[in-house]
Amino acid sequence: MRVVLGVGGGIAAYKAALLLRLFTEAGHSVTAVPTEAALSFVGKATWEALSGKPVRTDVFEAVETVNHVRLGHEADLVVVAPATADLLARAAGGHADDLLTNTLLMAHCPVLLAPAMHTEMWRHPATQANVALLRERGVHVLDPAVGRLTGADSGPGRLPEPEEIFSAALALVGGPSADDAGHLPGGPGTGRPSDSLAGRRVVVSAGGTREPLDPVRFLGNRSSGKQGAALARAALAAGADVTLVAAHMDVPPPEGARVVSVGSALELREAMLAEAPGADVLVMAAAVADFRPSEQQASKIKKRDDAADPIITLVRNPDVLVELVQRRNAAQPGQLIVGFAAETGDDASSAFDYGMAKLARKGCELLVLNEVGADAAGSERVFGQDSNAVLILARDGGEPEHAAGSKDEVAAAVVRRITRELAARATQ
Ligand SMILES: Cc1cc2nc3c(=O)[nH]c(=O)nc-3n(C[C@H](O)[C@H](O)[C@H](O)COP(=O)(O)O)c2cc1C
Repeated sequence: MRVVLGVGGGIAAYKAALLLRLFTEAGHSVTAVPTEAALSFVGKATWEALSGKPVRTDVFEAVETVNHVRLGHEADLVVVAPATADLLARAAGGHADDLLTNTLLMAHCPVLLAPAMHTEMWRHPATQANVALLRERGVHVLDPAVGRLTGADSGPGRLPEPEEIFSAALALVGGPSADDAGHLPGGPGTGRPSDSLAGRRVVVSAGGTREPLDPVRFLGNRSSGKQGAALARAALAAGADVTLVAAHMDVPPPEGARVVSVGSALELREAMLAEAPGADVLVMAAAVADFRPSEQQASKIKKRDDAADPIITLVRNPDVLVELVQRRNAAQPGQLIVGFAAETGDDASSAFDYGMAKLARKGCELLVLNEVGADAAGSERVFGQDSNAVLILARDGGEPEHAAGSKDEVAAAVVRRITRELAARATQ
């Protein structure tokens, strides 16, 4: 595989030398393209010696080789580490004032940027807007690690370790089998865990919605949020950037996830629609109420002996999963959507048949089917329990996959399946 390794002018440029080594040792051909500023941190000699190739930073060097178009055009993968605040701004702005930014404009392969900078620079609205814009355009931007920065200070802004960037980069090209063009792939020992979601943005909804009746009462459900929290944890463990849209949960959200708290189904819908654009994977694990009271009273409904008992009328809530699928189909066909279904069998059909029908109706790629209710011994099977047993159903007709064990084990199985689906798409 032909890799362009861009290096920005940050203190972490030295780590890119280790990253370069990981690529070459796995058999990939690397062209290093440091910026002029990067050469103030690590000199040309290091990049040339490690890559075995001449190193240029400017479009007016070796003009006869038309590097400014050729490098990006021929690359199978472009990785920039560290991506400085300045580089993010130039990339977002479409600048082409050096060889690296020309290459970024020419590249039609996956592009991974690994930002590193001081926390203030990272959190600055200008940087955040540039990152959001780049992600919107399909560029994969890793979140920086949290830890020691240049001086004695620490916080978010640290360059992730070379092995993590390497894993994330290989995951983008679908791992060893991704390359049909005969370029050398990675392989055993490349450092890429088989279930890596590094570089991916995953949005998980979890918990049970609460539909308000009045300021103190609501209609709720028995979801504890344990399975959703476990899914977020498993996605984090696989290296994903995770947002948890959390309705009512009995357990704390996993550390490392960005949490958006919601109450009702309508709030959950709004949060999911806001978070979905740019996400690689959506997992709808929340128990979203199908119905809500038609009216929410502004003051507490009073119990009076002389008044008639209140009658609650319910209206249908929007189907968030279907709406996410419709929007995805229109705007972001590559997004993978996973639904959850809690089904019970009845005289007419089995829970499995209901699950398959639901999968077809909803249009998502995967449906994780829980059979809820009491088991033969009369014990609750799913809600609030620490263990679970599910069938993972696939729209493409693949074999249903059984996963059972702790909710963390079930979550790991679902995340592995998601990873396989994404890798299969990358090779198509
Ligand atoms: C010692 C030192 C360390 C720096 N570290 C960083 C850094 O980690 N991240 C960053 O965005 N900029 C950092 N800068 C600022 C960049 O070098 C500066 O913005 C430069 O213009 C970036 O150029 P480039 O984006 O073309 O590589 C640092 C500057 C100095 C002098």
